[in-house]
Amino acid sequence: MDRKPLQDRSLLFVCTGDTCRENGAWGLYTKMRSMAKKRGLKGRVRVCSSRCMDTCEEGPNVVMAPGGTMCTGVARKDAIALLDEAEKVAAGKGECV
Ligand code: FES
Repeated sequence: MDRKPLQDRSLLFVCTGDTCRENGAWGLYTKMRSMAKKRGLKGRVRVCSSRCMDTCEEGPNVVMAPGGTMCTGVARKDAIALLDEAEKVAAGKGECV
């Protein structure tokens, strides 16, 4: 197995497990993917779906990498801010907080 740091890119893992889906995670996930595509972020920011992160009561949840920050209670209105942050991290101009 090889390991290497994430360079020049960031990943957003949106939990699309059952409980998060009941609280709007699928709409959040599709909105974020659509927005990333419209912004031309391919190769720099990737929005991925994830299964349950075992923090269902706080969902919808999103984990950003690098950094591994978990964002809880994420709403569709938060999508722009998350993508902005992920884009800055990918450009080396910010950190996941
Ligand atoms: S379903 Fe999202 S954390 Fe469990």
